[in-house]
Amino acid sequence: MPTADLFIHSANYLATVGGHSAKPACGQEMAGVGLIEAGAVAIYEGKIVAVGSTTELEHSGWIGPSTEQIDAQGKLVTPGFVDPHTHALYAGSREHELSLKIKGASYLEILKLGGGILSTVRQTIQATDEEIKAQTLKRLKSMLGSGTTTAEVKSGYGLSLQEELRALKLINELNDQQPVDLIPTFMGAHAVPPDYSEETYTEWVIQEMLPRVAKENLAEYCDVFCEPGVFSLKSSERILQAAQNYGLKLKIHADELESAGGAELAGRLRVVSAEHLLKASDEGISALAANGVIGVLLPATSFNLAKNSYARARDMIEKGMALALATDCNPGSSPTESMPLVLTLACLYLHMSPEEALIAATINAAHAVGKADRVGSIEVGKQGDVLILDVPNLDYLPYHFGVNPVETVIKSGKLVK
Ligand code: NIG
Ligand code: FE
Repeated sequence: MPTADLFIHSANYLATVGGHSAKPACGQEMAGVGLIEAGAVAIYEGKIVAVGSTTELEHSGWIGPSTEQIDAQGKLVTPGFVDPHTHALYAGSREHELSLKIKGASYLEILKLGGGILSTVRQTIQATDEEIKAQTLKRLKSMLGSGTTTAEVKSGYGLSLQEELRALKLINELNDQQPVDLIPTFMGAHAVPPDYSEETYTEWVIQEMLPRVAKENLAEYCDVFCEPGVFSLKSSERILQAAQNYGLKLKIHADELESAGGAELAGRLRVVSAEHLLKASDEGISALAANGVIGVLLPATSFNLAKNSYARARDMIEKGMALALATDCNPGSSPTESMPLVLTLACLYLHMSPEEALIAATINAAHAVGKADRVGSIEVGKQGDVLILDVPNLDYLPYHFGVNPVETVIKSGKLVK
């Protein structure tokens, strides 16, 4: 029997988040994070080979003289965070929008004035591949340092065939050039470019962009910003149905700013995940629950939009939905890479318990990006993506906020922080 390469032991608590790999943790199942006191985990050739108490593992035969050991006494050990919703690939920034927002301008008003997403589109189109990659690498490094080991990244700051294909190619290249595993999502329908009507651009996305994205195998998911004033229910449905016919899995930005039937559509189309959902109606929540759609909630976006409006996570959990949490990392509505911040906001403003928030940021998030067979929990056979947090227990993680609690990051068995 070989011996492990890495042995993390004596953790105050180790949260395995085990038992939810076959299907997402729904409703009350979101309370069970599988805490082990004096926990330990052994990793061999990048994969988890043993999990349990420190004494159990010390006698398991996995620990030999060549095994590197990390003492996690006083610390919390969790799976690496999975961030299932980001717009992390772009150039430039939009810090000037902060003062407009303080003066009362709304997100859609800024977009209609040619700012918002369209301003990032201009900055991204003008940048070289190297510039976009360098700026995105910086964000990915920040994500990794805050404990994110897997992240979805959407295109959507190109809004033309050539630029959307370039964005997806860059996401795929970046996936090979740094430790965070990236899942590419095609989001050509992120905004309507100037000089196009919504109908004409929708047609363009369906006829010109989707076939190329599929042919060149550049994305796993397709997403649409379904919102009155951006893409209507009808256009969103047409784009998502076309994407499905090309073999892409589906996501939707739904009911972020207004309640307009986005969640109902998500349920009807049985998309993998519906995102934002701040304004989802009772009928919408029921439709999501009945169709097994994962709700990806983005409390950092609510916080940053500063409207005191948060998704109804408790109602969703009561209805039996599976929830995931994400940063929404983007230059406008959520300029952050920090999943620990998202956990704090989820507890304080979505009224999720620390256990529910951890499940939502790990295994349920892994389900939202189709990777729950490989990541999202500390279980034998899974990729060795493990965090050591400088907090004594799970409650302390959302409690101590505004600092980075992630001390050590292990990605596929390798120490990367
Ligand atoms: O998820 N809602 C649309 N897209 C992003 C914002 C992107 C941006 O403002 O650049 C979001 O909030
Ligand atoms: Fe988003």
